[in-house]
Amino acid sequence: MARNIMSKFLFAAAVLSSANAYFLFAMNDVITTERLDPIVNPGAVSGHVHSIVGGSNFRASTNTSFLRQSECTSSPIKEDKSNYWSPTLYFQWKNGSFTNVNGSPVIYYLYSNTPGATTPFPDDFRMLSGTPTLRSYDASSFAQQAVTFLCLDFGGTSMKHNELPTGNCPSGIRAQINFPSCWDGKNADSKDHKSHVAYLSGGPDSGSCSDKNFPVTLPRIFMEVYLDTGSFNAVRSQAMNPDQPFVYSMGDPTGYGYHADFLMGWEQGVLKNVVDKCNCDNFGDPTCCATAGIFTLTKGGSCRITQGVDEITTGTLKALPGNNPVVPLGGTAKNAAALVTPAFISPVFAYTGDSPSQTGAPVGKAVTAPADAGATAKAGTTSKAAATAGSTTTAKGAASTEAAAPGSAPTSGAGSVELSAGSGGSPGAGSPAAGGSNHTGGPGTCSKKSRSDKRAAVRRARSFHETSRRRFATPEHAF
Ligand SMILES: *[C@@H]1O[C@H](CO)[C@@H](O)[C@H](O)[C@H]1NC(C)=O
Ligand SMILES: *[C@@H]1O[C@H](CO)[C@@H](O)[C@H](O)[C@H]1NC(C)=O
Ligand SMILES: *[C@@H]1O[C@H](CO)[C@@H](O)[C@H](O)[C@H]1NC(C)=O
Repeated sequence: MARNIMSKFLFAAAVLSSANAYFLFAMNDVITTERLDPIVNPGAVSGHVHSIVGGSNFRASTNTSFLRQSECTSSPIKEDKSNYWSPTLYFQWKNGSFTNVNGSPVIYYLYSNTPGATTPFPDDFRMLSGTPTLRSYDASSFAQQAVTFLCLDFGGTSMKHNELPTGNCPSGIRAQINFPSCWDGKNADSKDHKSHVAYLSGGPDSGSCSDKNFPVTLPRIFMEVYLDTGSFNAVRSQAMNPDQPFVYSMGDPTGYGYHADFLMGWEQGVLKNVVDKCNCDNFGDPTCCATAGIFTLTKGGSCRITQGVDEITTGTLKALPGNNPVVPLGGTAKNAAALVTPAFISPVFAYTGDSPSQTGAPVGKAVTAPADAGATAKAGTTSKAAATAGSTTTAKGAASTEAAAPGSAPTSGAGSVELSAGSGGSPGAGSPAAGGSNHTGGPGTCSKKSRSDKRAAVRRARSFHETSRRRFATPEHAF
């Protein structure tokens, strides 16, 4: 991260025009990479994979009070247990397979330097910026202006794009998004998770909250994700599209569908103090605010959670999780109907380090959110196939999963038994069923058995989880 600092500061000026106080912080970890979205698909498996940062009580369903009980947060600000998430980027090979690209977010909070002029987010506040189905650019849309990509070149000039840049970016790609920062003052959420808020009068990063329907000024959140696309430079020629080889998890090779979600999880009262008093460094370094006692800064901490959805999302995969088709520029993308909906895994554990192993110390006890219990798992889609095939839990050799990429963090399913619902493959194709049923006919052939299958799959997922827990447990960290 160190060498990014310079460019971060150089580009900070661009996002400052409407607010004169701000600070920024790099998230310590992505806590999990999963098909979950408690804002858009609460209680369900969502249509595409997200990379999630923040409080460890992220679940299929969560809220401010539950987030505040998080055992840890990947934010270096201990009091910020909010969740922030955006879609995961993949590299697509010539043969159609995908490998995930690692990315690490930096979050900015921008607000007025006049105490009292910025209102902290209320409890249970949530919002979405951007639209996953977009595959074209409308220059007059503030929401589309809110999304930009920087083709980083630390040795030369970094160029800003409205789409995923073509050609090689010597120092990687930075995906950037502004959230709306004007509020109706009444609703913590809205049906589309957007209509209770608006962008500033002059665009996503300039002007004020002058629209009388959205009179309340909130802190403006700006999120930058540094994507390690450089790791793929050497294999670019082996891509499906060497000019621009990357595809977002919703099947978006353009970047116009980029989006981000925020769910308020700041500890009670802290954000009020922040917007009123944290204004002590011109370059956005939050250290002086920590020194002033406004919040607690912990550098180099770590916080992750075990997976809540029984699906492998990192490494090299035959299809995008959820089986999302790649829809090119100008195409019409749908919110994908997943053919297979994996089971939930419960409970979810918080841990530190790179994996829930000897190097990963546990953080407190496991926390079970009622809404993520497998028995109540709702299919992310209404398709019959989803409900039926959702129970498919295969033994080693899951249909959708190829060998994990070297260095990719093992998921809770990466052990001697790989539990994968095979989102991308045809259920049952050649895979011995682990627990008594054969889904040899593809989706829709096991409807009578689907309920008991689902229960069995959840039981197996739980018991697998217990096994890995025991395997990883040592006297120092028996979680
Ligand atoms: C908040 O979420 C938790 C976990 O899903 C749940 O147990 C609790 O009932 C929710 N609280 C409210 C007020 O919805
Ligand atoms: C596709 O190619 C990549 C890179 O060579 C490889 O890792 C992956 O296993 C291949 N997928 C299939 C289905 O052969
Ligand atoms: C599944 O199929 C295999 C191979 O055809 C068979 O041996 C096995 O008995 C079947 N299991 C069930 C539960 O039907």
